[in-house]
Amino acid sequence: MKTDYVAAASKLASTFHRRGFTKPTGYFFILVLAYYLGYLSALTKNPSTKTLNHNQPPQSADIDHYQFQTQCANPVPYQLARKIILNRVFNDTSPYMNFPQPHIEPFLRHKRIKGWGSTGAVFENLIRKVKPKVIIEIGTFLGASAIHMAELTRQLGLDTQILCIDDFRGWPDLPSKFKDIKMVNGDTMLLYQFMQNVVYVNATEKVMFLPYSTQSALENLCQWGVFGDLIEVDAGHDFHSAWSDINRAYKLLRPGGVIFGHDYFTVADNRGVRRAVNMFARVNGLRVKADGQHWVLESR
Ligand SMILES: C[S@@+](CC[C@H](N)C(=O)[O-])C[C@H]1O[C@@H](n2cnc3c(N)ncnc32)[C@H](O)[C@@H]1O
Ligand SMILES: *[C@@H]1O[C@H](CO)[C@@H](O)[C@H](O)[C@H]1NC(C)=O
Ligand SMILES: *[C@@H]1O[C@H](CO)[C@@H](O)[C@H](O)[C@H]1NC(C)=O
Repeated sequence: MKTDYVAAASKLASTFHRRGFTKPTGYFFILVLAYYLGYLSALTKNPSTKTLNHNQPPQSADIDHYQFQTQCANPVPYQLARKIILNRVFNDTSPYMNFPQPHIEPFLRHKRIKGWGSTGAVFENLIRKVKPKVIIEIGTFLGASAIHMAELTRQLGLDTQILCIDDFRGWPDLPSKFKDIKMVNGDTMLLYQFMQNVVYVNATEKVMFLPYSTQSALENLCQWGVFGDLIEVDAGHDFHSAWSDINRAYKLLRPGGVIFGHDYFTVADNRGVRRAVNMFARVNGLRVKADGQHWVLESR
């Protein structure tokens, strides 16, 4: 395209030449004109100079940090959420079937549920308020908060599906802290102990899971159109993990839904979770509310 401008400019210059411009002045003129036209054409084509939409950041920042752009599929009906996951993740077979396998059973405890702030009042407050059909939990560990939510929805007579996202690896020094969660040939039994806990409380019909990284699980839910009306964020607490999880999760929130997460107030999370939540709220024009240790954002 730029070459068209150059050709036009040189044509123009030869006209000027005939009108008695000296050669050096003419060439200088062509040069300036070509650059100017090239500059104009770049302005009209470069997408970064297009009008920014409402959720974009100040222009001085590198906007890639704010772009989580996969277009989600249209939301599927609530009743299909579990079915789609069984189909796409588990080859249409319930992962609870024939659980636990005989070779795994000796490594599990009947019940080993430990969490952090997993039964705070925020869970009951939001479940009563939203009456969610689908809850997405990002960061599940042994299932303490998921099981608490399953109990609450049962008590309230809600037909709620809880989708748990966790890679069920925990973190690298997990075995030294949780000695009773066994490791078998380098494989932590966290996933199986979580499943055992769900079986123990008889919540297999309510609790389904995606045993993958939050990034790939959330991207896939987005592509499948599996949305939630209540989303809890409690996976990686460093800034980049929290920022990525919140941005990806918010796209899966139904209108009128609520997204919330743990550790808004701890000192360490001032640099991680709180920074990410505050920045997300600012960029999207939302207001952060606090409930106990948790942050809460309502969809617009
Ligand atoms: C604080 S624990 C969750 C606790 C749980 N919500 C409760 O209340 O009991 C954080 C969990 O996030 C998971 N996690 C951290 N980063 C992750 C990632 N990038 N992808 C998947 N899971 C992740 C860890 O495996 C761990 O189980
Ligand atoms: C998936 O299910 C089909 C039908 O039940 C079965 O034939 C196939 O072996 C399964 N695939 C895997 C990887 O288990
Ligand atoms: C387990 O839960 C199902 C519904 O999910 C219910 O029908 C059944 O009675 C429960 N069983 C026990 C032992 O609580």
